[in-house]
Amino acid sequence: MALQKRLREKTMQIHCAPLQGYTDHAYRRILHQLAGGVDVFYTPFIRWEKGEVRSKDEVDILPKNNEGVHLIPQIICSTPDEMKRLSDMVESHGYSEIDINMGCPAPMQTKLQRGSGILPHPDRIQALCREIEQRPELRCSVKMRLGLDRNDEWQQVLPILNQTPLQHITLHPRIGKQMYKGEVDMQQFSLFCDQCRHPLVFNGDLRTLADINRLTHSFPHLQGIMLGRGLLARPTLAREFADGEEWNDAKRMQVLCAMHQEMLQFVTTKYKVESQILLHIHAFWEFQEEMLGRKIWKKIMKAGNLKNYLDAVRQLLHSFEN
Ligand SMILES: Cc1cc2nc3c(=O)[nH]c(=O)nc-3n(C[C@H](O)[C@H](O)[C@H](O)COP(=O)(O)O)c2cc1C
Repeated sequence: MALQKRLREKTMQIHCAPLQGYTDHAYRRILHQLAGGVDVFYTPFIRWEKGEVRSKDEVDILPKNNEGVHLIPQIICSTPDEMKRLSDMVESHGYSEIDINMGCPAPMQTKLQRGSGILPHPDRIQALCREIEQRPELRCSVKMRLGLDRNDEWQQVLPILNQTPLQHITLHPRIGKQMYKGEVDMQQFSLFCDQCRHPLVFNGDLRTLADINRLTHSFPHLQGIMLGRGLLARPTLAREFADGEEWNDAKRMQVLCAMHQEMLQFVTTKYKVESQILLHIHAFWEFQEEMLGRKIWKKIMKAGNLKNYLDAVRQLLHSFEN
């Protein structure tokens, strides 16, 4: 525990992973205010689509929606032109940091040679890196996988990234084809770590303090760790790491319920149609099955109207009070 605290004080940063559909500005703000422990947040990827940026992506980065949060907007692109347009938009809102997604495994993106779909094309990466070099005022980082089809594709990519001024690289050591299945490839991660000249952030399958401790003991020189589904499942995970101790379920539930209250208020203010409210509030619980237990989780997730939903949540609160 002492080592863990020392590592954190000196070097270890906690990054909240971007998850499209989950980590929007409301979630990030609520997590930051009520759970804490996260040093850096990212937006889900912003893309160039049908000749423009989606307005909801622009709303998500507005500084007034992200007060008090260290936010790095993330973009996904395959050409310098796309990168320029997206970076211009991000910079126009006062940001001087940007993260480039080279990890997304979704076929809709990879077929456009975006996300992990760019990894088999070092020439494209080289072109993006030239654009990065031409914008010294913009601090860039890259979030990537090992490859799209093979776990050694990074070996063509890393030498290019090593020569590019980057703030850090976040590596999720899977390949795109795996989506989120199978194991993270720690052997390749270790090789990558040896050859990477930039500060490195690890991402993938960290769900408990024990997972984090194991990783940071094996790789004490990481700049940080990025938590995704593990943080959505246990929003206090980063805070528990910062505190250097596990919390009990009652303490975790207290924070979770306070976060839910805030989120419910946000979605009921923003959306007027019941199905929209349910869609968005269900996303809040999506990763909570283990924490809540299957029965009550299903009741919450299957609620088809607001009355049933609120009844299920009341039942949950009641069960934790007793
Ligand atoms: C539903 C979903 C949406 C995601 N959206 C993004 C995204 O917009 N940008 C990105 O870089 N990664 C995205 N990811 C990947 C996560 O950021 C992260 O790399 C991945 O979940 C592995 O980390 P974890 O095991 O801690 O969740 C997404 C993952 C999921 C499951």
